[in-house]
Amino acid sequence: MERTLVLIKPDGVRRGIVGEVVSRIERKGLKIVALEMRTLDTDTAKTHYEEHAEKPFFGSLVEFITGGPLVALVVEGGRAIEAFRALAGATDPVTAAPGTIRGDFALEVQQNIVHGSDSTYSAEREIKLFFPDLG
Ligand code: CMP
Repeated sequence: MERTLVLIKPDGVRRGIVGEVVSRIERKGLKIVALEMRTLDTDTAKTHYEEHAEKPFFGSLVEFITGGPLVALVVEGGRAIEAFRALAGATDPVTAAPGTIRGDFALEVQQNIVHGSDSTYSAEREIKLFFPDLG
């Protein structure tokens, strides 16, 4: 079994599609093992997105992700990382396939509704950051 960290970002919460995203995860057959709504502080946001620290959009990304409550989930299943990334669709919602979360609900690359860990290494790091007590 593999685990991945999923974020329903502040735009997803504002849009009122938390239930829709959770439902897609569950319908796929993935299991939710942790779920919490919280507003990120700047330090946690910077640590979460540390691989993007040198990118020109980093400051704006940190501002966006700390700008309102988000929902963090740990999702488990066979090949959960790849399975959730397929549900989410491409990072840029304009090119994300219709039928994916980003393809169906977003237009802007920053406000792309969800985040999913991109590797086993990132998943472990991100799950520890958000849910340090999870066994
Ligand atoms: P996510 O999968 O959470 O990983 C990094 C995030 O940075 C990405 O989703 C987008 O929200 C954001 N992002 C990626 N590329 C850009 C960009 N060119 N401009 C602004 N934000 C971006």
